[in-house]
Amino acid sequence: MDRIVVEGGVPLEGRIEISGAKNACLALMPAALLSEEPLTLTNAPLLSDIRTMTALLQSLGVEVSGLQGGHVLAMSGASVDNHTADYDIVRKMRASILVLGPMLARYGHATVSLPGGCAIGARPVDLHLRALEAMGAELDLREGYVHARAPGGRLKGADFTFPLVSVGATENALLAATLAEGTTILRNAAREPEIADLARCLRAMGARIEGEGTSEITIEGRDSLHGATYPVIADRIELGTYMLAPAITGGRVELVGGSRELVAAFADKLEAAGVDIEESADGLVVSRRNGPLKAVDVRTEPFPGFPTDLQAQMMALLCVAEGKSKLEEMIFENRFMHAPELIRMGASIDVHGGTATVTGVERLKGAPVMATDLRASVSLVLAGLAAEGETQVKRVYHLDRGYERLEEKLRACGARIRREPDDG
Ligand code: EPU
Repeated sequence: MDRIVVEGGVPLEGRIEISGAKNACLALMPAALLSEEPLTLTNAPLLSDIRTMTALLQSLGVEVSGLQGGHVLAMSGASVDNHTADYDIVRKMRASILVLGPMLARYGHATVSLPGGCAIGARPVDLHLRALEAMGAELDLREGYVHARAPGGRLKGADFTFPLVSVGATENALLAATLAEGTTILRNAAREPEIADLARCLRAMGARIEGEGTSEITIEGRDSLHGATYPVIADRIELGTYMLAPAITGGRVELVGGSRELVAAFADKLEAAGVDIEESADGLVVSRRNGPLKAVDVRTEPFPGFPTDLQAQMMALLCVAEGKSKLEEMIFENRFMHAPELIRMGASIDVHGGTATVTGVERLKGAPVMATDLRASVSLVLAGLAAEGETQVKRVYHLDRGYERLEEKLRACGARIRREPDDG
């Protein structure tokens, strides 16, 4: 296993290119199951989660090519011959459940392992299943698998209201509804940019969809979809993470391919904390030349609110901001695993249930640290960039799930960061 070693204290200066969005790509890839014709995604990120989804699709018979060093992923669903998503792959990544809707819609049956909990919370899939049931699916939960069947071989359009906003459940229902018989209305749907990206891609494949980006999406089912070539949207969480790099170290970084509308609520908080953000011809420029950072309160919410996927990274910044900040995590019940690690670096944080109170300290100090999820891990890298001395972040495989060429991108801006083998 590898670790990342950061020597802190260097103000970052330079340009970082934002990659395609992991969470958009993970929802777009299962769309290949909806058509006999090829779906080609460009701007796909080179990440281990994308390789896991590739392996899952291949296990179902989807032919996948590309992506070795490039960012093009060509998929053909012409010879899908297995309709069971096995536990051994699904357990590695919860987004695997996204093959259920499209497989059921195209073949009339599908069997998918239940993903189980994960480090940040229990994360059930009941909403995915309820939406598919509303479309007529008959579900049987046996031996850890969902066995799903559409009576008569085809799902039926439905008017379904999500009892709570779920990104994944909206995606699964949207994928399935494109091939259902009749019209589906999804109410209280998630409004994340990744949902809009999926809807645009499905439309490029011939689907009839309206209202994406709002909480009511209408889909008129088609008999079949055709192939398409589609570019994956920029990763707003990678963007927000790298916006924090010059914010926490001081300095100035241009985020190429970024746009404010992808991270508006987050950008507002960053400005309130004393960070400058400007739009440029190529993206966004973030800088903090002088002056202290100031405390701000943050509450995570579904889009367009402050994203839960940037809460850990924002906490790292607030550890060195003047005053007391309150962070409320409203989406996941156990998403403060970075707090004890940041405390080991000298931060002052009190966690009570879903609320963390951070009292800014003048400086963090390097330490060996480790986290159990992706965003927590990257928050420790950010803290390490600002800390005095050396920080070692262990269990780098979490970072490789969501950040393409992390060390390379940060090093290009002057960061002293390297990856090395870790036997401990
Ligand atoms: N929920 C249910 N039942 C369900 C589905 C969700 O109770 O059937 C609950 C969840 O437990 C959670 C809340 O609803 O408390 C919201 O979960 P959501 O379904 O929106 O999350 P997700 O689709 O599982 C995606 C991202 C996450 C991101 C969340 C929230 C992907 C692959 N994952 O997860 O990304 O945190 O939306 O924005 O798109 C990450 O990239 O680090 C990450 C965890």
